[in-house]
Amino acid sequence: MELFSPIDIGQVRLKNRIALAPMDTELCGMSGEVTEEMIAYYEERASGGFGLLFTEFTAVDAMQRLTSPGIYSDRLISGWERLVERVHAHRARIILQIAHHGGRALERVTGVRPVAPSAVGSPLYPQTPRELTIPEIEELITSFVQAAIRANAAGFDGVEIHAGHGYLIGEFVSPHTNRRDDKYGGNFEKRMRFPTEILKQVKREFGKSFIVGFKFSAYERLEGGIDIDLGRQIANYIEKQGADYLHISALTFPLPEKRYLSVPPIYVVDPPLVELAAQVKEAVEIPVITVGGIGKMEQAEGAIARGDADIVALGRAAIADPELPKKWEHGGVVRPCIRCNRCHIRIMEQKTLRCAINPHVGRELEPVPPTARPKRVVVVGGGPAGTTFAETAAGQEHDVHLFEKRDSLGGKVLAGSKPTFKEPLRRYLTFLNHQLAHSDVTLHLCTEATPESVAKLSPDWVILATGGKQHTLANRIQTIDCISAFEHPEKTGASVAIVGAGMVGCELAWYLSDLGKSVVLVDVLPESDLMQDEHYFNRFILLQIVKEKTANIFLGSDFEIGPDYIVTDNSKIKVDSIVNATGFTPNTELIETYTRAFAHDKVLIIGDELQAKDIYTATQGAFTIATTL
Ligand SMILES: Cc1cc2nc3c(=O)[nH]c(=O)nc-3n(C[C@H](O)[C@H](O)[C@H](O)COP(=O)(O)O)c2cc1C
Ligand code: SF4
Repeated sequence: MELFSPIDIGQVRLKNRIALAPMDTELCGMSGEVTEEMIAYYEERASGGFGLLFTEFTAVDAMQRLTSPGIYSDRLISGWERLVERVHAHRARIILQIAHHGGRALERVTGVRPVAPSAVGSPLYPQTPRELTIPEIEELITSFVQAAIRANAAGFDGVEIHAGHGYLIGEFVSPHTNRRDDKYGGNFEKRMRFPTEILKQVKREFGKSFIVGFKFSAYERLEGGIDIDLGRQIANYIEKQGADYLHISALTFPLPEKRYLSVPPIYVVDPPLVELAAQVKEAVEIPVITVGGIGKMEQAEGAIARGDADIVALGRAAIADPELPKKWEHGGVVRPCIRCNRCHIRIMEQKTLRCAINPHVGRELEPVPPTARPKRVVVVGGGPAGTTFAETAAGQEHDVHLFEKRDSLGGKVLAGSKPTFKEPLRRYLTFLNHQLAHSDVTLHLCTEATPESVAKLSPDWVILATGGKQHTLANRIQTIDCISAFEHPEKTGASVAIVGAGMVGCELAWYLSDLGKSVVLVDVLPESDLMQDEHYFNRFILLQIVKEKTANIFLGSDFEIGPDYIVTDNSKIKVDSIVNATGFTPNTELIETYTRAFAHDKVLIIGDELQAKDIYTATQGAFTIATTL
């Protein structure tokens, strides 16, 4: 089968096999009502060519709702109806994901104790939940059924029962969280009773004309949790109860196993859950949807062509580029998700969806209109901050010049993209260069800007986006900076000490170890304090791989470095080179030079030059400042 061939789910025909995965946007209103911002977000993806859209997690119950949208009252139907109409206008289908947080709800948000099938401790739960009584369970089943009836009234093509990721229904289904010994627990059939009752009641109401699907974790990394055999058994059972499709995920939790990561970071090369979906598919006849880490057309095509799945769902790839299906079908340079997981971190913190490489996400209703007073703007530096600023300002019809001393845009990303395992970053660079080349920005590549050359353009604004400079080490020993080490690893010797085990230091340790060098990685911080700003999957996988590959790692210990040695933990290790990966800091001399040459209020500082952090911080800051010019 082909990616762009139609497929039927129940009696509903999809125009292609590419779905937008369910993803929180945090764009709804205070009571969980649909907003114009939400409609704009979904409509952009519908017009981008997705055959099927899943809404985000939508709460069936008001009491335990965190900040997701809701479908717990008839009051909420009309908002959903407007959203559905806008999606259908693009010949896309849309399914409402109905869900309940269960033991994963947060008392600090809801004000009430989370509820679950059993009052047990689990890595899933922030606090031990309260056990649901049978009348409460029956009430919740009714809430799910009522939610489906409202979804039907709003014009949805169907509902997806969210039984994945350790939320309420998943907790009933998993032996890890369901320790009941009554009609809702104790054996397989009883654990399955909760979703089965919902499924049967909704099917009784609407029959085949309304899709009822089931998303679940076919593999959990939890003690006594779902393994693949049980996953297949669940799939088979749910099919027999009348489900129209299955959507195969795994647990979204940072447990100490690398297999089947549900929100795979950049370090996971192949989509990890396709194989899981394929194993489930062997056990059922109904369509199977695979999701997780799919960002390239050949990955999507491969999953369909091999028969591993019938539909591919794209999550973060669709956040980054809402037009991805159209581009795959008709050509176009994709804005590729770099799987940094900033979007997921934000959602876990109940903050509006944002994307590191697409500043328009979550702001679909905030077009940046042409300015009434066009200015001449000179941007110095072509990294993520400089390019985002330049493109945004040019979009407002300012006259923008961008200086970049290299022959390519990308700044520090050029170095960071060198390791094989950073392939999405290389695609991001391709996108960046293509995007700017086709914008109204006048590019001055291979040109190092100076205050004099910038002054010749008589700018109204000078934007410094040069990326900061490397921290110096306390004892000023001659070191190689980490950017050079990435770009010219041949300049480091056979044995290398890397000082700093943040993300850059760890990735460099992995990269140089793969090149056959003996690496010593040191940091004064203990492991528990490293990369605390990173997503748990990114941090967990990177640390695990680095530990496997790096010859020596000393964390949380003082060290001393000399020209060709490092002393730590009472041992002196001879090394050929020392690389400084302790981070970046604003280049104050450069800032002073420009602020002396131009009036203070004409110079704006953005990106790492302002606050050395990451691509996300750089692009968001640049975008926001550019819109206020
Ligand atoms: C920002 C974000 C929000 C998500 N919210 C949901 C959700 O509401 N419901 C759900 O079933 N999965 C949710 N997920 C998981 C995705 O549906 C998907 O399974 C996961 O992101 C892997 O797909 P991807 O690699 O294509 O992003 C979310 C993922 C992200 C990144
Ligand atoms: S924030 Fe990062 S992971 Fe999320 S969509 Fe954007 S690039 Fe992808």
